[in-house]
Amino acid sequence: MVPDSPCPGKQGACSENHHLTSPLQTAVVIRIPLAETGSRTLHNHLYAIYRRDNSMNTLIIYKSYSKMNTEKVAKAMAEAVNATLKKVEEAKPEDLTGYDLIGIGSGIYAGKYHKDLYKLLEKIPRLEKDMFVFSTAGSPDEKYEKPMKELLAGKGARVVGEFRCPGAAGLLGLTWANKGHPDDQDLERARTFAKGLIKG
Ligand SMILES: Cc1cc2nc3c(=O)[nH]c(=O)nc-3n(C[C@H](O)[C@H](O)[C@H](O)COP(=O)(O)O)c2cc1C
Repeated sequence: MVPDSPCPGKQGACSENHHLTSPLQTAVVIRIPLAETGSRTLHNHLYAIYRRDNSMNTLIIYKSYSKMNTEKVAKAMAEAVNATLKKVEEAKPEDLTGYDLIGIGSGIYAGKYHKDLYKLLEKIPRLEKDMFVFSTAGSPDEKYEKPMKELLAGKGARVVGEFRCPGAAGLLGLTWANKGHPDDQDLERARTFAKGLIKG
């Protein structure tokens, strides 16, 4: 299979993903910039064909420390799609190369994803990948995802999904919201979400 029309009319670097003419739409062609490949190719980028199925190489990086709610969600997603799972403390910028799909997840603390995720991502100049974001929070709200999505998009990532989940909230052994969450139903939703991304 070949891209239907690679970089139509473009002379320089192209910023678009080119979809194959596969009837099932099970694959996409994405560009890899010269910085990553070191190769000379048509319109300054290589075309790579990635299957959007279980052979997709997926990485999930997360931060969870309060009640380990996000860790439960991250593990459920990773098991569902056979992803590599890394705590942000274990992840290095170079670990993000070589994956087709990358998930970034955290609890929400004072309205934000954990700062360690920002610290990691800020060390990476470009991230031209399919990525998704997920969070657990006392009051899940899309406003918490916005700054993270903007950071990723600013680095060239295509944010292909976002997942929010209620997480038990509290301190010092006390829980003041969402007792028991994420529960089995939440984790099943997380698995379904991750599988949906892989199928495309
Ligand atoms: C210090 C702290 C700040 C929090 N701030 C928020 C917040 O701004 N909004 C919210 O909805 N939940 C907030 N929460 C609740 C957490 O987002 C929720 O408990 C989350 O599931 C924790 O994830 P974790 O167990 O993976 O660390 C906060 C919790 C803590 C401990």
